[in-house]
Amino acid sequence: MADQHSAAGDTAAPPVALALRWEEPPEGPVLVILDQTRLPAEEVELVCTDVPALVEAIRSLAVRGAPLLGIAGAYGVALAAARGFDVDDAAESLAHARPTAVNLGYGVRRAAAAYHAAAQGGADAGQAAAAALAEARALHREDAEASERMAGHGLALLGELLPAGGYRILTHCNTGALVSGGGGTALAVAAAVHRAGQLRRLWVDETRPLLQGARLTAYEAARAGMAYTLLTDNAAGSLFAAGEVDAVLIGADRIAADGSVANKIGSYPLAVLARYHHVPFVVVAPITTVDLATADGASIEVEQRPGHEVTDITLPYAPAAGAQAGTGIPVAPLGTQAYNPAFDVTPPELVTAIVTERGVVSPVTAAGIAELCARSRSG
Ligand code: MRU
Repeated sequence: MADQHSAAGDTAAPPVALALRWEEPPEGPVLVILDQTRLPAEEVELVCTDVPALVEAIRSLAVRGAPLLGIAGAYGVALAAARGFDVDDAAESLAHARPTAVNLGYGVRRAAAAYHAAAQGGADAGQAAAAALAEARALHREDAEASERMAGHGLALLGELLPAGGYRILTHCNTGALVSGGGGTALAVAAAVHRAGQLRRLWVDETRPLLQGARLTAYEAARAGMAYTLLTDNAAGSLFAAGEVDAVLIGADRIAADGSVANKIGSYPLAVLARYHHVPFVVVAPITTVDLATADGASIEVEQRPGHEVTDITLPYAPAAGAQAGTGIPVAPLGTQAYNPAFDVTPPELVTAIVTERGVVSPVTAAGIAELCARSRSG
């Protein structure tokens, strides 16, 4: 079950509201999630007391973005264990809540493996649940550390790729603190550029149909004091043509062994534009997003979302008076079919570099990806 309460008015407001946290009130442990479908209008939290509530939060994109999905999945297993639910059932339903971000299954498997290892080592149920929670917390911490390293590597890379004098960066979807235990991936690099006094402009793609750019990246950029401008996804071409983009920075949901990158729908057209206009196209992702078990781009399962997200204008964060959150205003004729993949796949030859906490791969090749994965954690 999930309860809702407003986060506004809590202690000193952090720069960006915390994406999720574990709490242990007297009634039992809970996972508290910032409901991202309600941003930027409201900072509303969902209090998940069981796994079905968390699975629903994942499907509805209340909690979203590859690294955060991994963290949420790990805490979900810990929640099931702590509340005495079947851990294997919980792991199964969490891992399949959304198909594309490899981090989700990774986080779930890590916490479940810690639980089973403890149980097999003679731990009682409470101790095994504590082991699952410790693993979730470790993943959360590691993701925060990875963010910091990626930001450093990304900033250095831009310094090598671009002439000095400040950068105009185009980004897509949302890849900041809202998707991470730390500052995030691509947006963490943009934030580092900003802190270094080098950000001339952050171009924010609105990211149809669910508007992660307009709602979430703009929210984060505003709170960080970045100079940002919002554009419709289909305005990007004219921006490149006008010579207004120095680099594209995006995240990833899964990077295949050959270096193909699945990311939010609309990323691939940006890569094509970037290549045509000789602009670096840089992917920033933690190593947990690299999936050596997926050979190539064609093998990546791309989530197909419901057509109403396209045929209707949905304002989940500010429903019309009396309307239910998540219901939309139809804009297409009734019965119109929609094509609504949540992600697309960019082939490695269009990617200038992949930045991870272990360092940078450029050019992006299968050998480079394999070498990256073999590097030590400290990068
Ligand atoms: O459908 P979403 O909002 O979960 O999609 C998120 C993205 O595509 C992000 O760009 C990706 O997860 C990288 S986040 C660091």
